[in-house]
Parts: sequence; C-alpha cells; structure tokens
Amino acid sequence: MCGIIGYNGNGPAVGILLTGLEKLEYRGYDSAGIAVFQNERPRVVKTEGRLANLREKIGTEEPVNGSVGIGHTRWATHGAPTGANAHPHQSDTGLFTVVHNGIIENYARLREILTDDGYTFTSETDTEVIAHLLEKYYKGDPVQAMVRALPLLEGSFALGILCADFPGKLYGARRSSPLIAGLAEDGSFLASDIAALLQYTNEVYRFDDGELAALGKDSVEFFNSGGEKVQKHKAVVDLSPESVEKGGHEHFMLKEIMEQPEAIRNTLLPYRDKNGKIVIEELALSPADIREINKIFIVACGSAYHAGIVGKYVFEELLRLSVEVDIASEFRYRRPILDEHSLVIIISQSGETADTLAALREAKKRGAKLLSIVNVKGSSIARESDMVLYTKAGAEIAVATTKAYSAQLAMLYVIGAYFAQQLKTVAGQALAELISALAALPETVSRALELSGTVEDIAAAYYTHDHAYYIGRNLDYAAALEASLKLKEISYIHSEAYPAGELKHGTISLIEEGTLVMALCCSSRLLLKTAANIKEVKARGAGVVCVCTPDTQADLEADRVITVPHTHHLIMPSVEVIPMQLFSYYVAKLRNCDIDKPRNLAKSVTVE
Ligand code: G6P
Repeated sequence: MCGIIGYNGNGPAVGILLTGLEKLEYRGYDSAGIAVFQNERPRVVKTEGRLANLREKIGTEEPVNGSVGIGHTRWATHGAPTGANAHPHQSDTGLFTVVHNGIIENYARLREILTDDGYTFTSETDTEVIAHLLEKYYKGDPVQAMVRALPLLEGSFALGILCADFPGKLYGARRSSPLIAGLAEDGSFLASDIAALLQYTNEVYRFDDGELAALGKDSVEFFNSGGEKVQKHKAVVDLSPESVEKGGHEHFMLKEIMEQPEAIRNTLLPYRDKNGKIVIEELALSPADIREINKIFIVACGSAYHAGIVGKYVFEELLRLSVEVDIASEFRYRRPILDEHSLVIIISQSGETADTLAALREAKKRGAKLLSIVNVKGSSIARESDMVLYTKAGAEIAVATTKAYSAQLAMLYVIGAYFAQQLKTVAGQALAELISALAALPETVSRALELSGTVEDIAAAYYTHDHAYYIGRNLDYAAALEASLKLKEISYIHSEAYPAGELKHGTISLIEEGTLVMALCCSSRLLLKTAANIKEVKARGAGVVCVCTPDTQADLEADRVITVPHTHHLIMPSVEVIPMQLFSYYVAKLRNCDIDKPRNLAKSVTVE
C-alpha cells in the first residue's frame, strides 16, 4: 500500500523520483506527489490520479530543480484520493515534509491534541499528524525529533522525511511497513521496494522495525529507536533491472503468465536430489519433529490463501493429517487452538502483508512451529519466521498474481512430498510418480500455455458477460477459487467460485439463459459428479466452458472445451489454472481494463 521513494544525490531529483514511483505504482495509484529541495526549501507538487497526471502537472509548472527529494504514490486509507490528501504532507511552517506508507491508528486523538496546540490541518489523512508531531518535538536535530515523535504513533509506517533546516539530508523510519535504503554512485536512496532501486544498485540496507536513518549524498547512517547509531550490513538482491521491465509484452501480467514454467522450475530446483528424492535443507525439522505434528494450519490472504486450499487437499491426501486453511485477517482474531504440535504454514508473495504478518506473530505467541513460503528475500515475514522456504518467482509487478501463485503451489507440493517421504505415508512407487510429475511440471505448464490462442477465442465469445460462476470439486474447486478471483479483479466481471455440488443449495437460482459457467473438470475421480452438475446448469440455460484433460473430456456437455495436458491428479491445479489466467487476461483486455493496475487494488497490502 503506497510507494515511497527518496533521493539525495547530485543528479536532478525530479526524474529519478518519477522513475522510481513508476516502479512502485503497483503499490497504489490513486494519487501521487513529490517534494524537492529548491533554493533550500522543499517544493511540493502533488495531484490526484495516476502518476501520468503528476508528470503532466510537473511539465506545466515552473521547472522543479534540485537534487534532494521524496515521492509517493498513494492507495487511499484516510480521506478520498484527492490532491489535498495526496502526499507529501507538510507541518504548519513547512519545516517537515513527509511521505508515509501505513496507517496511524490513533491519528484522530493526535489530531485533536495537535489542533489544541494550534496546528492546522489541510487534509483528511492520518499522515499529516506525523509532520506536525515532528515539528512539535523538533529542537534542532531531526533524528531526535523522530526519536520523540514516532513512539507516540500507534500503527504502522514507513516514512520519507525532509527537514527544511537540513536541505542536504533525507530521513527515513520504519515500523511494520517495508522500507530499504541504497547507496549508489549517483547518490543515496530510500524506497518501499527494490524495484525502484535496481537501475542504480542491487545492494540494499533493510530497515528493521523501529529503525531510523539519515541519508547524505554519499552516506547512510542508521539509528535505533532511541537515536543511537547502529551498524548495518548490506544485502545483495538477486534481481536484474530487466526483471522489472515488460520485456516486449503488452502487459506485465502476460509476461508473468508466460514466465510460469521458469518460476516453477526455479522454485523446484533446489529440492530434488539425483536419486529422485526430495531434500529440503532449510527445514529445521527432523523426521521425529515431523511425526510430532498433529495438525497443520495454512494461513494467508488472497491468492496465497487459494494456494493454501490446494495445499490442504494435497497434504490431507499425502499425509493423512488434518489441515485447516484460514484467511489471515480471520485467523489473527479468532484465538486459534494451537500448541507446539501445530505447524503453521504462512504463505505470502510479498512477505509484507499486514494481516499475514500479524497472523504469524499470533501463531508464534501460541507456541506453534512456523514455516513460511515467501517470494521476497529479507521481507518481514521471512525475517520473523522460524523456517523460510523461498519461492523463486522473481519480481512480480502486475497486481494480479500469476507466477507467484504458481510458485507457491510448487512449494506446497515439495513440502507435501517431503513430509510424505519422511513419514512414509505414501508407498515408494506412488511417491516416485508424484515427484517425477513434479519434475516435469514446468514442461507441462509450458504446454498449457500453448492454449493461449484457443483461450483468446473463447474470451472473445464471453467478454461482454456481467456474471460468471466457476465450479469444480476438490482440487478443481481449489483452482476455481483462484480462477474466479483473477477474472473479477482484472475485468470487473462479477464472479464467484462454488464447489460444484453446492451450487444447487442457493446460487443456482442466479443461473439463467446465457449465464456463463466455467466448469473445472480435471479430476477423473469426480468427473461424473461434476458432469451431472454441468447438466443441471445447462438445463437452466447456462453457457458452459469446461476445462478438462484428455482423460476427462468425454461425458461433458459443454459449449466450449479447453483441454489441458494431464499430469498427476494432485498437481492438476497448476495446469488448469493456466488457461483460466489467460482467459481473465484476454477478457480484461477486450473490456479495455487497466490490466496491470486494476481499480481499487494494490499488490502489497500493508494495512489491515
Ligand atoms: C493482494 C494482492 C493479491 C495477493 C494478496 C496477498 O491482495 O493483490 O494478489 O494474493 O495481496 O499478498 P501476499 O503478498 O501476502 O501474497
């Protein structure tokens, strides 16, 4: 939620800030702004709408000159996405200028106090209190002002700060929301995410919770929350600048869909030894520890939660262990029953999702074993977990996830197969079949991607529909959840996923002549059951598109069929989701939607 950039160097700041914000726009894009020191005073330019509006505004005003500044792209929480609510925000006298990612939960109370103190507010945001508080506690040293003001804030923040008395400095601070600093030849940087820095450096300093920093043109100094200096080590990020570019594709989403074989291959690679066995060196669990686990919880949000549902079916079948999957925002408040025999698997692409992080902390407090599946190295969830397994999807920019979801599935299969191997819950031959299907998965997914043309034709036949219902049973249902989410988030078509057998208990009343039903039928075991449900909706006039395998194709009464390659039944979701991602993509394209930045969404949700 919200992207922050800061620059202190010798070059013209405005271009660097805008280019950085472009890379962070996936984090929020309802308004944007910058502040640059010009003649030793911060000059603020901000506006509602996309970054393009800000560029235009900057282009029509007097040139913004200066080489120290901060920038922000917003996902509104407090106050509508107007120009007045856009960041940066300034204290009364303009002494402090602030950009913020996160939420200040006690801002209303602080606003009352500051108003009584005589400060005036010009926006509805929670952020403005930070600027005023810094001014209130300032006695000539901005770091000391932060030390005094920031503990008064409840909630989360990543901050970029300018102080008018120090036009050669840039300040940063972090609690719970992501923030990194970088030092390159051209100057020093602050950013919410490495994507904004890759063209300058791949070496970063990660702020720990509570840390503050002061950035000069060629220096980065860190302080703890008490203002004492701390030594930080740089982390090297294994991403190239090209990985955050579109690489010839029209949209990041299509590029990322096409990168899935590689994302899966890279994720699986470290875990198969030359004897065809699964090895997971990062797992600090002996076979005895694994045997002691009596329940697995999988906790996540959004698509990562949908990956968790696939995990439930896979684990329960392979391990005969009970698995609960929960949405992180529910789990964290429902006082889950956990103990040292529980294994909690946290799944998160960004590793920064606020609810998922809070769920992790809750599970830790209750003594459960914690294993996280994360895509971003060094992210908060990775750092707070007992054990971390990294998906290797690379940078994912499109707000709607595709390759990170696929990599999460791959990692869940690896964990399932490994536990089954250690617990001996699956016969050797059957396990070997699963592991070899897994090894072939990148190739199988490549073949599914070849269906792109067929899927585009089908999308052209249905893109004008207002509603869609996705149905399936067991693993097909788990895949249907993700397929349906993809359609609604990028094409704005109302879409729901239902277990095929459940539709008749209410939702079937919505099926009428021409309603679109997407039926996922890749489970041969349940084929006849789903086939009967398809007949039920057909009888009520639905138009049905079936996703099936060569084995499950017969017996289906469908208007259109998408036949995906067959693989081991437990890993079919990884294959059947591919044409569904493509379907959503092409439908959204035909509806002229903003595919990479759908309305109201953000990729990294760092607020509750
Ligand atoms: C947002 C994104 C989703 C993502 C979810 C969880 O809603 O738009 O694509 O699945 O957050 O994010 P995480 O980074 O924790 O996987």
